[in-house]
Amino acid sequence: MSDQILGPGGGSPPQKYRVEAEPDPAALVAPTMREMSEPTDGIAPTPVWLLLFFFVLAGWSGYYIARNAAGFRGDIYNEHFVKGMPVQKPPPVDPLVLGRQTFNVCMQCHQDTGKGIAGTYPPLVGSPIVLGDPATPVRILLHGLQGDVTVEGATYNGQMPSWDRFSDEQIAAVLTYVRQAWTNTAPPVDSALVTAIRKQTGERTQPWTWPELQVAAKTPPPPLAAPAQPKPAKP
Ligand code: HEC
Repeated sequence: MSDQILGPGGGSPPQKYRVEAEPDPAALVAPTMREMSEPTDGIAPTPVWLLLFFFVLAGWSGYYIARNAAGFRGDIYNEHFVKGMPVQKPPPVDPLVLGRQTFNVCMQCHQDTGKGIAGTYPPLVGSPIVLGDPATPVRILLHGLQGDVTVEGATYNGQMPSWDRFSDEQIAAVLTYVRQAWTNTAPPVDSALVTAIRKQTGERTQPWTWPELQVAAKTPPPPLAAPAQPKPAKP
C-alpha cells in the first residue's frame, strides 16, 4: 500500500484544467430515471398479443387439418396427388345397431325392458301404437306427445319430448329397433317415411295429442320420396 496521501480530488487532473459549469439538471436526475419499476408479486394478465397468437395458431391448425386430412384415409399420403381416386363409401350402418344406440335416450323413461313405468311412462313392448302403422310413432318422435293416451288399457298423461333433432335415418332406426326388440315383431321403418312426414308436418310446433294423431292417421300418407330414376337417354 502506498503511503501517499492524495489531496482533494485525488487522482483527478490538476485543478487548473477543471472547467466549472452549471450542473445539468437532466444529468442529476438521470440515475433515478434509469431505475426500473419494482418487481411485483402476483399474477400478471396474459398479454393480448400472446392470446391473439394462440387464436391464430389454433385457427390455422384447424384449417390445415381440414385441408390435409384426406378424409382420414389410411391409404392416402397426399390427397392432392390422387384427386381422381374414388373415395370409398363407409359401409352402411346396420339400423338395428344404430337403433339400439339411439334407444339409450328413450331408456330413461321407457326403460331397458321397454315396459315403461306403470302410471307414468307407457310401455313400448306390445304397444299397438309401436306395432301399428309406423306413421303414428314417426309423428310422435318428430313432435312429441302430450295429454291422455291409452296403451294396453292404462291411461297415461305425460309429456313425451320431441326428437326432431335426430336424423331421418336415426328415427327410422330407433323405431325399427323398438318394433323388433323384446317380444315385438313388426316390419322395419323406412327412413323415406320419416323424411316425408317431417316435410308434411314441418310447420307444427306443438306436441301431438292423441285425438290429433287419429285425425292425422286418416289423412292420406305422404308420398314417399321415389328413389332417384336414371334419366332416360335422349333418342
Ligand atoms: C322424458 C321421458 C321420455 C323419453 C326420454 C321418451 N319418451 Fe316416449 N313417451 C313418454 C311419455 C310420458 C309418453 C306418453 C305421453 C302422453 O301421456 O301423452 C310417451 C309415449 C311414447 C309412445 C306412444 C305410446 C306407446 O307407449 O306406444 C311411443 C311410441 C314412444 N313414447 C316412443 C319413444 C321413443 C322411441 C323414445 C326415444 C327416442 C322415447 N319415447 C323417449 C316419455 C318419454
